[in-house]
Amino acid sequence: MQVHQYDVIIVGAGGAGMRAALESSKRTRTAVLTKLYPTRSHTGAAQGGMCAALANVEEDNWEWHTFDTVKGGDFLVDQDAAEVMCKEAVDAVLDLEKMGLPFNRTAEGKIDQRFFGGHTRNHGEAVVRRSCFAADRTGHMILQTLYQQCIKQNVEFFNEYYVLDLLMTDGKASGVVAYELATGELHVFSAKSVIFASGGFGKVFRTTSNAHTLTGDGMGIVWRKGLPLEDMEFFQFHPTGLAGLGVLLSEAARGEGGILRNKDNERFMERYAPTVKDLAPRDMVARAMANEVREGRGCGPDGAYVMLDLTHLEPAHIDAKLPDITEFARTYLGVEPYTEQIPVFPTAHYAMGGIPTNIKGEALATNDDIIPGLYAAGEVACVSVHGANRLGTNSLLDINVFGRRAGIAAAEYAATASFEELPENPEQYVVDLVEGLRNSTGEERIAAIRSDLQATMDLNAQVYRTEGSLKQALTDLEALKKRFANVAVQDKGKRFNTDLLEAVELGFLLDLAEVLVAGALARKESRGGHFREDYDKRDDVNFMRHTMAYREVSVAEDGTETVSIRLDYKPVVQTRYKPMERKY
Ligand code: FUM
Repeated sequence: MQVHQYDVIIVGAGGAGMRAALESSKRTRTAVLTKLYPTRSHTGAAQGGMCAALANVEEDNWEWHTFDTVKGGDFLVDQDAAEVMCKEAVDAVLDLEKMGLPFNRTAEGKIDQRFFGGHTRNHGEAVVRRSCFAADRTGHMILQTLYQQCIKQNVEFFNEYYVLDLLMTDGKASGVVAYELATGELHVFSAKSVIFASGGFGKVFRTTSNAHTLTGDGMGIVWRKGLPLEDMEFFQFHPTGLAGLGVLLSEAARGEGGILRNKDNERFMERYAPTVKDLAPRDMVARAMANEVREGRGCGPDGAYVMLDLTHLEPAHIDAKLPDITEFARTYLGVEPYTEQIPVFPTAHYAMGGIPTNIKGEALATNDDIIPGLYAAGEVACVSVHGANRLGTNSLLDINVFGRRAGIAAAEYAATASFEELPENPEQYVVDLVEGLRNSTGEERIAAIRSDLQATMDLNAQVYRTEGSLKQALTDLEALKKRFANVAVQDKGKRFNTDLLEAVELGFLLDLAEVLVAGALARKESRGGHFREDYDKRDDVNFMRHTMAYREVSVAEDGTETVSIRLDYKPVVQTRYKPMERKY
C-alpha cells in the first residue's frame, strides 16, 4: 500500500472535477483521482448546450433565468443557490470562451444561443434562446477544453484510480482510499480537503443515457459513512432517448425546430403545453410521451414510442447544428433524419438529488451543519439548483459554477487547516470490501443481478410511480441485496480486474436504488420528475421540503447488523418567487 499527501483531493475528472482543479491547483497542492481517463468522463456525452443569459441573440437577463430554473424545478429549488448560478452563468461561459472553447457563433461573431425547454422570456411569455453551444457536442468541447487547461497548469492526475472510501477523523474529511486498476494496489491519500465530483447513478435504470460507469460511487461512499443524501427520489427522464436503446438525442433537436408526433402524426405537445409546446420542461414532455403510448397513440409495431420529426428542417441546418445525434439515428436505428422521423422514448438521464451542499460546495451533515473539509460539485451534489426537475443545459452550467466554487472553497480551507491524523488502518474497510468480493464463493452473477435491478427500476420507479409499484421495487431490491451477498467474482486476479470493479459498482447501485425508492414512497405528491399516479398533484402544504435520507445501522446482541433508511426533511430556501401552478 502506498501513502500520498495532498492539500486537496478531487474525486472525478469530469467537468465539475476539472473546473474545481483549475481553481484549487492555482492555490494549493491538488490531485485529481478518476476511475477513468479524464477525457472519458461523462461530461463528454452532454450534447445541446450550457445556458447563460448573455442576451447575444435576443433580450434576456439572469433574473428571468433564475425564475425559469425555480419554476422548472417545480419550486423545490433553493432560490438563493439558483440566483448564484444564474448570475455567475455569464462569466462561466466567458471563462470557457477565453480558455478556447469553440462555441458556435452568430453572423456578427458573438457566441450563438439556441432554444431549450423551459427557458423563457419575461417569466413564461415565450421561449428564449439562452443555451450556448458547440454544435451538439458541447459537453465534449467543455471536457477537452478543461483538460487542456489542467495539463497547461500541471494539475496532477491519478488515472484509473478508483476511490472506494472516504476517510474521516473527528468528523472532518481527512483523505480517501483508492484502488489502482492497473495493479490492484491500494493507495491512501491524506488530504485537508476532499471534493467529490464523481457524477450520477443513472445505471440503476436499464433505459438510460448514462454510460456504463455512472454507478453513483461518490454518493455511495458518503452514504456508507452515515452522511445524508438529499432528494434522491427526483430522477430526470430525458424525453428523447433513441427508442429501445436510451441513447441521448439532444433536446437541441427540438430547440432547432424538431417536433414530437404520435401515430396520427399529431403534434401532441400542443395539448399538454399550449404556449411552449415541444419546449416544455423535460418532466412534462416525458410524461406526455409516456401518456401517448399508454393511451394507444404510440408508434411502431408495439405502439411503444413516439416520433421526433426533423424532416421539415433543411439538411444543411441539421448538419450544422445537430451532426452527432443525426448520425446516432443513422447508426443505431438505420433511420435517415433528413427524410424519416426518429423513434424516441424517455431515457433515465440525470439525478437531481445527491450529496447536500451549500453554495460554496461544502457538504452538509444535517440541514445546515457542514462537514469540515468535505465538498461536492456537479451531478453527485445537491445544492439544490435543480429542485424536482432540471432545465436542459443547466447541468453544464452547474458543473462550471459550482465546480469553480468548490475548488476555491476547498483550497481556502486547506490553506488554514492542518492534516488530520488518519484513522488506524485507514485501508481496512477497502481491504475487507475488495477481498470479500474477490474471495467470495457465491454463485450469483453480477450481470444477472444488475439486469434484474434495472428491470424493476424501469418497471416500478420510472416516469409514473404508485405506492404499489414502489413497494414492489423495495421488495425486489431486498431480494437482490440478498443475492448480492452471494455474488461471484470470477476474475481472482489483481490487474485490470473489471469483474471486481463491477461488483463494487453494483453494491453502490443497489444502495442508491433503495434510497431513491424509499424517498419516492414517502413523498405522497407529484412534483417535477417524481410523479405519483395515486397522488397526482403537488402538495406544498405537506411536501414543499427537501428529503434528507440517512443510513442507520443497528447491531443485535448476536452481532447481526441491520441497515435501515431514516428519512428526515429540511425546508426549501425561498427568496423572491412564491410557488405557483406550473403551466406552460
Ligand atoms: O438534451 C441535451 O442536450 C441534454 C442537455 C442536458 O441534459 O442539459
